[in-house]
Amino acid sequence: MLKNRGVNEPNFDQIKRTSDGFQSRFGAAPDIIVRCPGRVNLIGEHTDYNDGFVLPIALPFETVIAASSSEDSQINLISEGFGSAHFSLEDNPMHTSGWGRYVHGMGSLITGSLGWNGYISSSIPMGANLSSSAALEIAAGMVFKHLGALEITLREIALIGQRVENEFIGVRSGIMDQIACALSQRGKALLLDCLTMQTSMISIPEDTSVVIMDTGTRRELRSSEYNKRRESCESAALNLAIPSLRDASIEDITKLTNQTLKRRARHVVSENERVLKVVEAFSTGHSLTAGRLFSESHLSLRNDYEVSGPALDRIVEVALGTPGCFGARMTGGGFAGSAVAIVARDQVEQFCNFVTNNFECPESQPALAPTRVYPVEACAGVSLL
Ligand code: GLA
Repeated sequence: MLKNRGVNEPNFDQIKRTSDGFQSRFGAAPDIIVRCPGRVNLIGEHTDYNDGFVLPIALPFETVIAASSSEDSQINLISEGFGSAHFSLEDNPMHTSGWGRYVHGMGSLITGSLGWNGYISSSIPMGANLSSSAALEIAAGMVFKHLGALEITLREIALIGQRVENEFIGVRSGIMDQIACALSQRGKALLLDCLTMQTSMISIPEDTSVVIMDTGTRRELRSSEYNKRRESCESAALNLAIPSLRDASIEDITKLTNQTLKRRARHVVSENERVLKVVEAFSTGHSLTAGRLFSESHLSLRNDYEVSGPALDRIVEVALGTPGCFGARMTGGGFAGSAVAIVARDQVEQFCNFVTNNFECPESQPALAPTRVYPVEACAGVSLL
């Protein structure tokens, strides 16, 4: 029996709870309800801000916002589990602290935004590298769009979400999370070329399940390490006199004299190649090949890019020793949070039980939340219900 049965079922209960929450706090039914999923990245890590390739899927976990227009530029937000946030769109988002800043940032950057009252719930684990913040940004962007009847596209909302991270949160993140939350389609992985912003929908072989392995460890992405990695990549590109590492080959990298930059760049260049090879392997039904590339990606992130951590390394090791596992790797920004595996569908239940029973966080990195191992199906991106 899977421990977390039901995570793939539609979130009707959550939607009803959010609508009822709005009604009881604001005294009337909401005008609109928006849902936005989190994401897990299958492969293509730390490539987005290098103009490279990424391959995420949207998750069955969602942020749901029930909202109605307010009279002025005031925003009043109540969250199911995280208190409330109140601010005026005329104020600077930097004056709003906590999660309210994501919504405030979206409103301040979307031209024509109007005020609203909202009740927010989320089933996306926070700090697990599953994009709870991007989901909040994109959901909020949709609320501003629909309540203000604004002519803004999902891609534009995604780009504004990235600007919120960069300008108001202080993380120089790429565009993957926001595009995954905004544009994913049910049953498909989303291949994004971060240079051209072109997207393609990729089928995952029928016999293959995606499994999230949340170690329960947590780390703030804002941490300076993320921004440092991005700076290293920019320096490497500058040294090679190219616009970004997207244009580098493995031979080019040998010209770098700084050993740290060389390793960082080698990860990016090899990871881009792996994304395209995984797409090829998925399209020809070779999940074992795709799995091998997942495992290579983990080693590259651990050894060359140095963004893994003791708990992520251990859960990947346990996964790789479990029957049915095609491959496993850390996912998202890294250091803590979740890893992802691809597993033979007919062995997925045993796989989840085995990893759950055999993984324990190393003493050097204790868990702050329960370890959870569960299969997920690819879900649809943001929508107005
Ligand atoms: C975080 C960022 C993304 C991406 C990943 C690493 O999730 O928000 O833009 O850089 O880390 O692949």
